[in-house]
Order: sequence, then structure tokens, then C-alpha cells
Amino acid sequence: MTIPSLSACVRRTAEPPIPLARTWSAAYTGEAGPPIDLTQAVPGYPPHPELLARLAEAAGQAWSAGYGAIEGDAGLREALAADITRCYAAPVGAADVAITAGCNLAFAMAATVLAAPGEAVLLPAPWYFNHAMALDMRGVTARPLPCRAEDGFVPDPDRAAALIDETVRAIVLITPNNPTGTIYPPEVIARFAALCCDRGLWLLVDETYRDFRPDTTAPHGLFADPSWRDFVVHLYSFSKAYCVPGHRVGAVVAGPAFRAELDKVLDTLQICPSRAPQAALAWAVEGLRRWRDGNREIMAERAAAFRRAVAPLAGWQLDALGGYFAYLRLPDWAPPATDTAGELAARHGLMTLPGPFFGPGQDRYLRLAFANADLPTIAGVPARLSALGK
Ligand SMILES: Cc1ncc(COP(=O)(O)O)c(C=O)c1O
Repeated sequence: MTIPSLSACVRRTAEPPIPLARTWSAAYTGEAGPPIDLTQAVPGYPPHPELLARLAEAAGQAWSAGYGAIEGDAGLREALAADITRCYAAPVGAADVAITAGCNLAFAMAATVLAAPGEAVLLPAPWYFNHAMALDMRGVTARPLPCRAEDGFVPDPDRAAALIDETVRAIVLITPNNPTGTIYPPEVIARFAALCCDRGLWLLVDETYRDFRPDTTAPHGLFADPSWRDFVVHLYSFSKAYCVPGHRVGAVVAGPAFRAELDKVLDTLQICPSRAPQAALAWAVEGLRRWRDGNREIMAERAAAFRRAVAPLAGWQLDALGGYFAYLRLPDWAPPATDTAGELAARHGLMTLPGPFFGPGQDRYLRLAFANADLPTIAGVPARLSALGK
């Protein structure tokens, strides 16, 4: 029998990184204490009890078992549009919003609209691995835009301009960033918008972590100019802000021309997002505003605690931190990042992700999702790091 072949694009795509990193901890025997898992960006506290009650209530209703609108139910689209209008002090309407089954799918579907196989998208590197994987499996080239530690990992629009050729269709920004945590200044985002306008490109801004910025000023001014609808695509995730990653709810915010093409992709790839979480979240956007603000403070405390905890460590350098993540440079004497992450997990019970998961040139870095850990757990991280090589 001839074994049928599988898509070359999918075969070329990287393995799922988080399960791979977790296998390294299988050898850990527990001598340093309970394992500390800082691999995946998951909220380290439970969802609000009223959200859970409303989810259960909605899930028990026959209507929520049926298909819904392909672009999501009106209640959540309206609630998110009002939330964005408030957060960015600029009018965004429900017609601009499509609800998706999570933000990863939002990115994959947006990428399908933005670029055809053989075309390219600029991704600041280090990048979010699932963005690169979504492009790879579509046959779209993820072209790295290298970011430098000395710039705080803020991408440089001039360097981006030099990488644009006729195959490039879009530039992707993530702010607050995964993996570095860097929050991009609004002026830099505005310069990327100007570059995209000038060169006829889409600007896709993934703001999964926007509710964890330490302040409540508008993250950028893109929505203030109505022409954003011609070239900006904004992505949002309910996973982290409402602690419901398992319910898979995200959003694409874009103008009518983009949304019209997106509808074909939404219909084909999701049919509709899950109904019960949409109903519960439509209440939560306003109903849990104070709770969300409280979580912003928890995250700021964890960030400060992490910064304090690693400061005295000889040789380790905290090159960036923010949102959910710390991006830690290895001491010169440490083995390459993948070996270091393997040793930390297997021998010292500290699970992190190595820089090479986040694209080229990251071999001296580890990403630690400190958001997952409470303050006592964060305080235990330096002892595990300093045990490396002993
Ligand atoms: C930048 C970024 N976008 C999207 C996602 C995925 O979010 P969701 O759970 O909504 O698919 C993540 C999750 O880690 C992320 O870091």
C-alpha cells in the first residue's frame, strides 16, 4: 500500500511547545519542593463565582445548545464594543466586532483573510509561537522583525520598513507582548500604523493581555481615527481577563471590508462561538469591571515581586517584564536555553519555556509566566534558578 502524504505545510510546522516543555518535568523527583509551572499563561486565580453560576445557568438552557450567529451573539458583541470604546476613548461599534472561539482562532482566521500561501507577514521576534505556527501551516511566511534587548524589545518601525517587499501583506504587533511582556508605547504603534498606511499593509494588533497593563490610559490611539477600519485588525481574548481559557472566547475587531471576507472564514472554521460563555461574558464585561481592575493590581504586585526576587541573582538579567511574562537572560556560563529549561524542569522542578520556542535569535532567554504564581511561589523561584548546574 502507498502511504498517503500529509500537508507539507503542516508537517513543517513546529510541535506544540507547551506539552513538549512539560515532558521535561517528568524526571523531577521533588527534592526542591513542589513543581513550579511557569510555562503556560493561565490566570493563577479562579474565575469569579457569579460568572461560573451564570455559565452553568446558560449551559443548562436548550437555546445555548443550538447554533448561533456566525459572528457571535449580539449581547457580547455590544458589550465588548462598549468596553473598547471606554478603554480606548474612541467609538467602536458592535458591527466592528466578531466573536471567535478564542483568540488563537481569531488570529488564524484573520491570517487566512490577510495573506495567501506564498505571501508573508512581519512578526516582531521573539514572537508568539502559535502566531508563527498558524502562518506556517497556511503556507504564509512568518518574516522575523528582530527586536533588541537594548530597545526593551520594542520593535522598530524603520527596521520593519526595510523588511517590506511585495510579498508582505501585514505587520503583527502583540502588546503587552508575549513572550517579553513589553508594553509598546502608543507613539510606536502610531508609527507602525503610518507605515502600514504608507505601504498598503494591514496592521494586526493582538491585545490579549490589555487588561493587565498597570495603568488604565488608552493603550493606543488607533481607534480615534475612523480610517482604522481600512487597515487595522484588533484581536482580544476573554481567556485571561475573565479566567475562562477553557471556554474559548476571543474576538476580531475590524472594519466592514475585512469583516465581509472574515465572515466566510468564521462560517467555515467555527460556524459560531460557544453560546453559554458568550451569554455569561456579556454580563461580565460590565458586571466584573471592578474585579478585573483588582486583577490588574494583583498582576502588578506579582510583576513587582518577580522583579525583586530575581534582582539579586548573579549573572541572570531580567531584560523585560510586563503583562503576564518575564523574559530572563541566562548567565553567560549557562548552557543554551533549551538545555537550561530542561535541567530546571527535570532537576529543580521549575518549568519555563526556552527562548528558541519564540523564534530565531532567542537562545539565551527563558520565558517565565509569573502571572500563574502567587507571591510565596514567586519568592521560591530564585532558589531554583540558582541551583542550575549544581
Ligand atoms: C498573544 C496571545 N494571543 C492569543 C492567545 C490565545 O488566547 P485564547 O485562549 O483566547 O485563544 C495567547 C495565549 O497565550 C497569547 O499569548
